[in-house]
Amino acid sequence: MTDPQIVLTERVQQALAHAFGPEHADADPLIRPSQFADFQANVAMSLAKRLRRAPREVAEAIEGALSDFPGTVEVSGPGFLNITLDDSWIESEAQRVLADPRLGVGSITPSQTVVIDYSAPNAAKEMHVGHLRTTIVGDSLARLHEHLGNTVIRQNHLGDWGTPFGMLIEHLLDIGEETAVEQLEAGMGTEFYQAARVKFDGDDAFKQRARVRVTTLQSGDPDTMRLWHVFMDATVRYFNKVYQLLGVTLTDADLAGESMYNPMLQKTCDDLEVSGAAVISDGALCVFPPGFTGSDDKPLPLIIRKSDGGYGYASTDMAAIRYRVHDLKADRILYVVGSEQALHFRMVFAGARMSGWLPDTVSAEHVQIGMMLGKDGRRFKTRSGESVKLMDLLQEAIDRATAAISDRGYDEATKSEIARAVGMGAVKYADLSVSHDSEYVLDFDRMLAFTGNTGPYMQYATARIRSIFRRADIEPSDAKGPILLGDPAERALALHLLSFGSLVEQAAEQSEPHRLCAFLYETSSLLSTFYEQCPVLRPDVPPETRTSRLALCALTMAVLETGLDLLGVPVPERM
Ligand code: ARG
Repeated sequence: MTDPQIVLTERVQQALAHAFGPEHADADPLIRPSQFADFQANVAMSLAKRLRRAPREVAEAIEGALSDFPGTVEVSGPGFLNITLDDSWIESEAQRVLADPRLGVGSITPSQTVVIDYSAPNAAKEMHVGHLRTTIVGDSLARLHEHLGNTVIRQNHLGDWGTPFGMLIEHLLDIGEETAVEQLEAGMGTEFYQAARVKFDGDDAFKQRARVRVTTLQSGDPDTMRLWHVFMDATVRYFNKVYQLLGVTLTDADLAGESMYNPMLQKTCDDLEVSGAAVISDGALCVFPPGFTGSDDKPLPLIIRKSDGGYGYASTDMAAIRYRVHDLKADRILYVVGSEQALHFRMVFAGARMSGWLPDTVSAEHVQIGMMLGKDGRRFKTRSGESVKLMDLLQEAIDRATAAISDRGYDEATKSEIARAVGMGAVKYADLSVSHDSEYVLDFDRMLAFTGNTGPYMQYATARIRSIFRRADIEPSDAKGPILLGDPAERALALHLLSFGSLVEQAAEQSEPHRLCAFLYETSSLLSTFYEQCPVLRPDVPPETRTSRLALCALTMAVLETGLDLLGVPVPERM
């Protein structure tokens, strides 16, 4: 392990045990980056109270007990330990990370099976911006876990079933299969739904047909099922276009929509009823997980079969959680879904625990996704109040990126490739850089800016390093050092890069890609200072300095590119 904070923590803990006894070996030395040194440890303050000794005295005892320590320690103020790492230690650790194809990122042992439920648009409506974030955040989590050696099972829990399909199929018959497929493939799902809805509300004969169609669909009638497939296949082809444009790793093999659970629902209900976990209440079959009450203090039900015998969202989720634990053998299940569904998931998890379907060894977590807002601070809508089509939004980002790079003299093909990477990178990075549960304002100007914590800025940083290597006429993989640190700017950059591995692990463990963004942003900022202070290719730079700086550039580039790849942000060669 190379992360200085972790290395120092271990060493100070050893010193604590040595100075004050083994019972102190697990105390957190509270090591934090500091403005006075590389790090500061504050443990002497809290420990002094417990030991009833002066903090400064405790700090001095810790300092005296430090051995095999890769830096110098100074006791300051009332008892802070100011830690400055040795340049030689940073140099050799940086050298090690540079030589490590995994750049200091470990592998989780034993590896886990992580089921990630994400994207999950509803087929009865167009895929809209709300699903953009669940798609992008979920995909980054999938990439992170895979990189760490976990087995990732993606589950795209499509909304592909329910009563609206009666009217949708009837509308499909009215306009003809061919026209319907054309519309759905073009992403006009919302218009399609609205046209069906208007007829449903205003035309009694249509309404009647739609109702009958729901029943024939539920009974599995082959003709109706065929029509349902026509509808779904066209819709999924559209979703796939969006995924492809975004560079999202979901494929058809990951489709696990609500309809997939139909054959399991009856048994789900029966088993819950037999075990006593579910009871009939007002004619409906309900699970009452402990600890959930409504405003009237009455226990809140999770309705798994309605009084008319129909199944709903909760029925499917109970079947799904059992399937994920039992059949997919999940160790961890992540539900990357809007935060407005928090109560639903808390109840599903509690219901599954009380039914014995979710053992304590398996964790189920709702990775809450905050709402996407417009610049006005309200839910993101078009001017006329419609929800915004995802494709339109993505196209706008690409158009703006095209405009931003139009004066750079690229031929058309290169330009469109770069614009796509920049546009999609901007949208994805903007989604990822804010903590997933906060609301988030969609602002094209900000996300496409070439400075600040944005996708284009990170892409630009890597492109800039690439251009150094082009000018030096060497391959980044040939820049092997040795790394020698002289200037404070290169020292700061090298020191920072040592934490990449533990940062990736934390981002995955805590489902927080935004921490990786913050790390990469810090990397780019340190890189910029490095550029200002440390010439690389200037003729007066001594050869060993040039070799070292090129190696540091190569390491920085590898970290940026790997990090961006784990976020799913594309990296254009030039910009
Ligand atoms: N289709 C749902 C929606 O758009 C999200 C499904 C999330 N996953 C789940 N297992 N319930 O709201």
